Amino acid sequence: MKLLSILSSSIILLNYVHAIKPVTSAQFYPLNRNGDIPTDLEPFQLGQDIPLDCISRNIDNGEHKFDDKDRIIYIPFPTCQETNKPLSFKYGVSEDVNCTIGFTDELYHLFQLYIHEDSPFSCRLPLSNEPHYIEKGGAFIPLTFNFRGQIQDSHLDIDSHLNVLFTKPAEENTLISSVAWSSGTNATRIVIGDFLTINLAVRWLDNLKNTDSNTDSFRNVNGLPFPDGFYKLPLNSIPISYSMFLFYLGLVSLASGALVLAFSYNLISIKFSKTHYRNLDNESLVTKRD
Ligand SMILES: *[C@@H]1O[C@H](CO)[C@@H](O)[C@H](O)[C@H]1NC(C)=O
Ligand SMILES: *[C@@H]1O[C@H](CO)[C@@H](O)[C@H](O)[C@H]1NC(C)=O
Repeated sequence: MKLLSILSSSIILLNYVHAIKPVTSAQFYPLNRNGDIPTDLEPFQLGQDIPLDCISRNIDNGEHKFDDKDRIIYIPFPTCQETNKPLSFKYGVSEDVNCTIGFTDELYHLFQLYIHEDSPFSCRLPLSNEPHYIEKGGAFIPLTFNFRGQIQDSHLDIDSHLNVLFTKPAEENTLISSVAWSSGTNATRIVIGDFLTINLAVRWLDNLKNTDSNTDSFRNVNGLPFPDGFYKLPLNSIPISYSMFLFYLGLVSLASGALVLAFSYNLISIKFSKTHYRNLDNESLVTKRD
C-alpha cells in the first residue's frame, strides 16, 4: 500500500518533470571568484610543478578553518621526505611518485576524519600558470584524496596506494578535473609518530573527447578558455594523445638509446683498439683482387 503510493507519487513527479521545459541556461565551470568565466589563462609548461594546496581543518570536527575575512584557509599538502617539500604534481607527466609523510598528532586525527569520511581531504589546483592566480581570485579545480582504510581503537589501517587521474583539454595546457583514490589491497598500520609512504600512480588523460558541447547556450560567449562539454572516458582505448604518446616514446627511446650506447661503447672501443676498423677494408680489397 505504502509502496504503491510512493510509486504513484513518483509517477506524478515524473510527469511534472516532463512537463517543465529543459533547462537551457548553462553555466560554464569553473568560474573565478567574481563569478566570471576565466579567460586569458597562462598555459602550464609540460613538466612544471603545479601549485597544490589543501583545506585546513579543525581536528575536533573536521570543519574548515577560516581567516579574518571569512575565507577558507588553504595550506600545503604534508611534506614528503623524498623531496623535503609538500607534494606537488608535474604538469602533463604520467609517472609513479612516492611521498612519505610523518603522522603528527594533528595529521593522525585528520586522517581519522578522512577515513571515517566525516570530511574530505580536499585540495585544489589553479587553472592558470599565473603566479598567485587563485589568491588573486582565479578559478581552480578540486582534487580530493580519497584515502580508504579502517579506524581501530589503537591505530589506523590506511591503504596508501593511490591512483591519481588528471584530465586536460587536448590543445590547452590547463586542467579539466582531477581525482585521487586508494586502489591497493594492503593497508598499513599507523600510530602517531609513524611514517607512511604514499605510492601515487599519476596519469594524465589529455585526449578525451568533449561530448555535449554547450557553447551556444552560454550567456557569456565572448571566449571560453577551452572547448566546453563532458570530457568523457571512452568505453575502450587509452585516452592519451598521439603527441603525448610520442613524448613518452621519445623519453623511453632516449633512455634506452643512452643505455644501448653505454653498453656498446665498451664493445666498440675494445674492437676499435684491436682493429682500428681496418680489417674490413683490407678484406674487401682482398676480395676485389680475387
Ligand atoms: C616507491 O616505493 C616503493 C616501495 O614502497 C618502491 O617499490 C618503488 O620503487 C618506489 N617508486 C619510486 C618511483 O620511487
Ligand atoms: C603490505 O604493506 C606492508 C607494510 O608497508 C609491507 O611490509 C608488505 O610487504 C606489503 N605487502 C604486499 C603484498 O604488498
